[in-house]
Amino acid sequence: MTDFDINSLVRPCIQALEPYSCARNEFHGQASVWLDANESPYNAPFNRYPDPLQAQVKAKLAQVKGVEPGNIFLGNGSDECIDLVYRVFCEPKTDNVVAMSPSYGMYEVCAHINDVAYRKVPLRPDFSLDAQALLGAVTPHTKAIFLCSPNNPTGNAIDTLLIERILDQAGCLVVVDEAYADFSSQPSMRHKLARHPNLIVLSTFSKAWASAGVRLGMAFASRAIVELFNKVKYPYNVNCLTQQYALEHLKKLDQLAGWRNAILAERGRLIDALSRLPQVLKTYPTDANFVLVKTVDADGIYAHLCREGIVVRNRNRVEQCLGCLRITVGTPQENDAVINAISNYGNK
Ligand SMILES: Cc1ncc(COP(=O)(O)O)c(C=O)c1O
Repeated sequence: MTDFDINSLVRPCIQALEPYSCARNEFHGQASVWLDANESPYNAPFNRYPDPLQAQVKAKLAQVKGVEPGNIFLGNGSDECIDLVYRVFCEPKTDNVVAMSPSYGMYEVCAHINDVAYRKVPLRPDFSLDAQALLGAVTPHTKAIFLCSPNNPTGNAIDTLLIERILDQAGCLVVVDEAYADFSSQPSMRHKLARHPNLIVLSTFSKAWASAGVRLGMAFASRAIVELFNKVKYPYNVNCLTQQYALEHLKKLDQLAGWRNAILAERGRLIDALSRLPQVLKTYPTDANFVLVKTVDADGIYAHLCREGIVVRNRNRVEQCLGCLRITVGTPQENDAVINAISNYGNK
C-alpha cells in the first residue's frame, strides 16, 4: 500500500502522550549499584524489574522468525496486542473495527471494553472470506480490520493473496492473527511487512509453542507501530520469569517441531475417526490444532462429555456454528477418549 500515514490513524491523546519513563530507560552504561527504582537489594535476580523492552528475547525471536528486532512487540499474551490495537488507534464512541464472523471472541470483547463499534461481516456458509463484503463494511472511521488465519473456531486459513488484496485496498490497519499458523502449510504474513505498512501480524507462545501458561504473545509490525505499542503498554508487561523461560524455550525448536508434527498426525486420525461416527454430521477442514465438528446434538453431546470428564468447546450458539463442537487435538489417549465418549452418546 502506498501513501499510508500511520499517524493519521493514531488517537490524538496517544499522539500527545508523554509515556512513563522507566528508571532504567534513562541510564545507559555500566553500573554496580542500583538505587534508582526502589527495589529490594535482596532476593536476586527477582528483586529487579525486568527489561521493559525484552531485548534478549527479541534478538532470539528475530533469528527464529526472520524479522528485525525493531519489528517485534511482545505482550502478556497476544490478547494484550489485540487490546493495544484499540487503545492506540480507536477513539471510543467514534471509531470502529471490521471483523469476520465467526472469529476469535476477544476482538469483540476488547471492542466493547474500549467502547468501539464492532462491525461483523459473516463468513460464507463454507467459512470462506468474502473480501468484497469485508471491504464494503469499512467506513471513514474504521481503524482496523481483524482477520484470523487459521480462523478460530472454523479452523480454515485465509488465502494469502486475498489477505494482500485486503491490505492493498483497506485504507486502515489489517491485523492478521496467526495464533494457529504453525499448524498450517500456508506461509506467514510477517514476511510481507516491508510491502504493507498497515499490516500487524499476531503470533503466540500459547499454541504450537506449548506455553499458554507463561503468557507471551507477539506482534510483528512496522517500527512505527511497534513504537506506538511500546508507548502505551504497561512499563513491565512481560515479567522476568517469562523472559527467562522464553530464552530457554527457544533453544528447543526441534522438540517444538516434534510436538507440532505429533499434533498434525493426530489431527488427521481424530478427523478420520470422528467423521465415521453417526453422531457427527460433518467435520470441517482445519489448518489449526482443533477441529470444528457439526453434530446431531451439540448441547447433548457436550453435557455427556462433561459427565465423562472430557471438556470440549460448545460452539452451538455461535453464528453459523449451529450443532458444532470445537475439539482441540490432544495426545493419542485424549483423542481416543473423546472419540469413544462421542461414539457412546445416545447408545442405550
Ligand atoms: C485466534 C486467537 N488469537 C489469540 C488467542 C490468545 O492467545 P494468547 O494466549 O497469546 O493471549 C487465542 C486463544 O485461544 C486465539 O484463538
